[in-house]
Amino acid sequence: MAGKVANPVERKIERAEQRCVNAACGARYGLRERIYVCAKCGETLEIDCHLARPSDPLAVRERWAAAKANPKLPRDASGVWRYQEMLPFDDDAPFVTLFEGNTPLLQAPRSAKYCGLAGLRLKHQGYNPTGSFKDTGMAAAMTQAVISGARTAICASTGNTAASLAAYAARAEFQAAILLPRGQVSAAKLAQSLDYGALVLEIEGNFDDCMRLVQELGDEPSIYVANSINPFRIEGQKTVAFEMMEQCSWRVPDHVVVPGGNMGNSTALGKGFQELLDMGLIARLPKLSVIQAEGAAPVARLFASLSPAQLAGEAELPERLAVVENPKTLATAIKIGAPVSWKKALRAVIRSRGQVISVSEQEIADAKAIIGRDSIGCEPASATTVAGIKKLVAAGHIRRDEDVVAVLTGHQLKDPDYMSNYHRGTLALPVGEKDAKPVHGAFQNAPERVAATKSAILASLKQRH
Ligand code: F0G
Repeated sequence: MAGKVANPVERKIERAEQRCVNAACGARYGLRERIYVCAKCGETLEIDCHLARPSDPLAVRERWAAAKANPKLPRDASGVWRYQEMLPFDDDAPFVTLFEGNTPLLQAPRSAKYCGLAGLRLKHQGYNPTGSFKDTGMAAAMTQAVISGARTAICASTGNTAASLAAYAARAEFQAAILLPRGQVSAAKLAQSLDYGALVLEIEGNFDDCMRLVQELGDEPSIYVANSINPFRIEGQKTVAFEMMEQCSWRVPDHVVVPGGNMGNSTALGKGFQELLDMGLIARLPKLSVIQAEGAAPVARLFASLSPAQLAGEAELPERLAVVENPKTLATAIKIGAPVSWKKALRAVIRSRGQVISVSEQEIADAKAIIGRDSIGCEPASATTVAGIKKLVAAGHIRRDEDVVAVLTGHQLKDPDYMSNYHRGTLALPVGEKDAKPVHGAFQNAPERVAATKSAILASLKQRH
């Protein structure tokens, strides 16, 4: 955590504030007000950074590159805080960091071929300190939590937000309390939260039930809500757009594709690209597309029902989302039926002319295995991207020669049981679930039992070659 430092950057934010995303309401709140939804209309909030267009956008790019190559301040080594001029924090903020961000943009030739593309790059947010994209947002949210004077940070989670909050709260010497749907979180993610010392509360119910409870608890003065309904989370997570553009040498990809659960990540990427456009750092937006799992796809369903005028941004979007009461998917990270940030995310998708679609359990599982064959690997929810890109190419929404970047959100080791079951041919939704079809391992790679002899091993090698 940094102390007070001299202003190292030309400030671009003149008077950031929180604003209601409902244009008809337009309520505004100071940054210090600890609210998560609009007090007047109940809609979600976002931070209006009032970014001024710099006289020389190239100088901004150069400053960021220099901060990365040669950090002047310890916090410049963070892939969030080196973009501080885009973030609503003063220079003397009590920055919390575990040196998040700085994740690679990887070429994925086998996945590209699988999708029918000439090339595909994967921005792997699973390389973050706790193994998921949540860490960039959590650096910002925990910094704001310290400023707020709260004592306890709380979140509902399918596992990754929990692990991230647990780690960042420990770093900031805060109590972390985590609400998890019992029996629905991967053992690896749950173990991370325990290891970082968080209070883990297992709830009988699903993620949406946990999220409702967190929103009720947010009224308590000592409690700080760290879910992505908190607009400071979105501020940290938007930096992935900045880092991605640097890695693309500022050539805007045609498409950026992300998984969709609670829809915080898609909201953040949409905001990040929009701010780069507003500042003149890029000349156009990439088409932002969001992929949901078929059994937990309320936004994809809504998107499919939109009129051509709504899709073109010429008519109002619906006010209500029909939630999925009992969401189902083996990609437990995105097993969410009532996403809190759906409206902000949908607007970003429409503004960029992207798509929201869903993919089946089989499509997710096979895409995950292909990402593995690219020597990259990811958790199941992240693989919705490659499965979705394959579908979007087949439907003609993405052309073979277009430049596509997918964001992988979690590390391969986040859910080892899923991976092992796929390769052993035992992956299926729990028995008793409606539509519980087994998932076939099209790229199955089960371990073989082999006699402890040289000849048996050589015979095995020959057979597999
Ligand atoms: N991918 C992974 C690996 C996730 O953990 C999540 C969300 C998503 C994608 C979806 O992102 O919610 O911003 O649309 N995980 C949350 C959690 C809900 O509690 O860890 P989103």
